Order: sequence, then structure tokens, then C-alpha cells
Amino acid sequence: AAASDTAITELPDWTRYLGEGVATRPYGHPSEFESGVVRRDVPWLTASPESSVSFTPLHDLDGIITPNGLCFERHHAGIAEIDPSKHRLMVNGLVEKPLVFTMDDLKRFPRENRVYFLECAANSGMEWRGAQLNGCQYTHGMVHCVMYTGVPLKHILNEAGLRTNAAWVMPEGADAAAMTRSVPLQKAMDDCLVAFKMNGEALRPEQGYPLRLVVPGWEGNMWVKWLRRIEVGDEPWHTREETSKYTDLLENGKARRFTWVMDAKSVITSPSPQAPLNHRSGATVVSGLAWSGNGRIARVDVSLDGGRNWRPARLDGPVLPRAVSRFYCEFDWDGSDLLLQSRATDETGYVQPSKEELRAVRGVNSIYHNNGIQTWHVRSNGEVENVEVS
Ligand code: MTE
Ligand code: CO
Repeated sequence: AAASDTAITELPDWTRYLGEGVATRPYGHPSEFESGVVRRDVPWLTASPESSVSFTPLHDLDGIITPNGLCFERHHAGIAEIDPSKHRLMVNGLVEKPLVFTMDDLKRFPRENRVYFLECAANSGMEWRGAQLNGCQYTHGMVHCVMYTGVPLKHILNEAGLRTNAAWVMPEGADAAAMTRSVPLQKAMDDCLVAFKMNGEALRPEQGYPLRLVVPGWEGNMWVKWLRRIEVGDEPWHTREETSKYTDLLENGKARRFTWVMDAKSVITSPSPQAPLNHRSGATVVSGLAWSGNGRIARVDVSLDGGRNWRPARLDGPVLPRAVSRFYCEFDWDGSDLLLQSRATDETGYVQPSKEELRAVRGVNSIYHNNGIQTWHVRSNGEVENVEVS
């Protein structure tokens, strides 16, 4: 800093006066100087705010946990505001005894704590045909990662008793959309949770208060919020959300269906269009997120030159299966233009594809499951833009 830096030579008010007392804000809020760190929506993307999305400000965050108030939200019929004392979970269909649980009933089952990412299948959906939205909040912000507390779904299904021909379950939401999806019984019995807490406190209304389904590694649409019913059946229901939506139209006119798993993906969150570099050269930190619906992230590589050369990034913090992992790549910037990319590899050996590789297989008709490599063009003045390289 300069020799006459007033931040050093003058006493600021906060060192001269007493601060406010305890419990002034009984529920804490971030500093007023962080007021720009918020979820944002893109009004022209959707016809109405009730069936829309607001995005996680990934460029302002670090570590692996998304703060509850910043988790992106995606609703098909607005936010249901539910009185938990009036909320019930029903289990019916191919079970020995249909059951109805209150919230108190559910809290008498053994519960688990697990950190998982949730990614909307439509994340990066606007980028299928080319670089479009200028900021990782908008290109990649339909993902969040929190610790859930909930009851394994298998305990609840076992309590009702599965009939021998049970093969699928259909969770249903209590919102006006009555969101319904078919989930194979194997997944339901494996690692699904009926969750009531996120990061230690009650789910936010936006995230499905008081109850939501957690379907680790699988597309966000299946994580039914405001969960009120689970029907057990012997075949999928072919609901709207798995026929007209959440299917991937290929070039040959056929559509992929039941594309549940979110494949390995990564993005550099800083620098990025909303987080430009404020220095012109020298020590520089590249940071980002990587995740895979198939397990743990094994490695992340970073390129400064649009994918010609790669260097390994450093994973830091917990590297958990089906959670986001944080990576860093520190380098000495010579001040010239950069084409920044990151590429994730998961523990199955799957490598995140380039956008060209992805389009060669899927075409450009899709909305969902775009996990192609993102490129940011960093200019010598520190500004960053969403681009594509070929
Ligand atoms: N569940 C209900 N009941 N209604 C919904 O509109 N949206 C789904 C899913 N569950 C939805 C729902 C979609 S498309 C996604 S991506 C996730 O919830 C978003 O979860 P979030 O709002 O907690 O980020
Ligand atoms: Co979604």
C-alpha cells in the first residue's frame, strides 16, 4: 500500500466507539459489505418467477459447503410455505401396510449426516449451442452442496414392508406442481435420504421445508421437495418430468430417457466474469469446484492456454463421494491473455469431455446434462469473458 495510506494513518470509527451488543441480530446476517453476494435470476430465461430458477453465486464462495441462504432454487410452481405440524409423509402402493408419518414420527428413526451436491439437470443448459451467459453464477450456478440430516429411505420403506414385486418408488411433492419422478427401488434402498435439516438447521422453504428427498449424485429434479408421499410400484410411472421433460433429444430424433446420474464436471469459479483479476501480473490463484455423481473426484487439471497444456490442480478440503471438491492452482501470471479451463476426472476414470466431444455424441438439441469443459478468456486488464475454443 502507498506510504500515505489513510487505512493505516487514520483511526476508523470502528476502533473508537463501542459496537452493538449481543443478540442485536438474533439470527446472524453477513456483513453489509457482502450485500452483493446473493442468488440472482435471469428474468428473460423463464416466463414467470414461479416456474423459474435463481443461481448460486459460485464466484463469491470458497470451500465446499454452500451457505443455506445462497443455495440456488428451482421451483416449478413457486415456494410452498408449509406448517410442519400439518405436514404428513404417506407411503402407499406395493407395501404390506400403507403408513402415514408426522414429522415427529420421522425423527424417531435412526438418522444420518451426509454432504452431497445437488445439480439441476439443466445446469449449463443455455451453453449447448455456444458461449452465452457471462458469469459462472449463470453458467454453472444450478449446483449447491450442503450437509443433510435425514432418515435413510430404506428404514421408512422397510417399516411399511415391501411386497415381493416392488421395483420402483415415486416420490411426490406437496407444492402446486406435485412434482413426481420414478426412482428405481435399488437406488431408494441404497443411499436416498428423507432429509429435514441442511447444514444443521431446518431446510429453507425454498429447499423443501419441512421434508425433501435426497438422491445422491442424481439429477436435481428427482430430489423432490416438500415431500408428502412415496408410492411403491412394479414399473416406472412415466410422469411428465421423465417424458416431456428431463429427456435428451439426440440428432437422430431419438431421445435418451432416465439419464439420472450427473457425470463428472468442473468449473473455475475465480477468476471468472463476475470475479475479474485486480492485479496485472505475478502470484495468482485459480480456484474452482469439481463434482461427480459417480463417486469421488480423483483429480482436476487446469489449462492456461485453452487446453493445449495441462497442469494438475491441488484438491483441498474434504474430498467426499457425490459432494463438490474444491481445487486450487497457483501460478505466476506474466500478464498476458489466458484461456482458462478445468477438467475433472472421477474415481471411475471418467474424464470430463470438451464441449466438442460432448456435441459429437449428443448433438445440440439437449437442454440437460451439459458437463463440457468451460473456457474463460482472461484479458491482460484482468477482465474475464465466457468464450469457446476449438
Ligand atoms: N420438488 C418439488 N416438489 N417441486 C419442484 O419444483 N424442482 C426440482 C427439485 N425438486 C422441484 C422439486 C428441480 S428441477 C431441482 S433442480 C431441485 O428440486 C432444486 O432444488 P433446490 O431448489 O433446493 O436447489
Ligand atoms: Co432442476
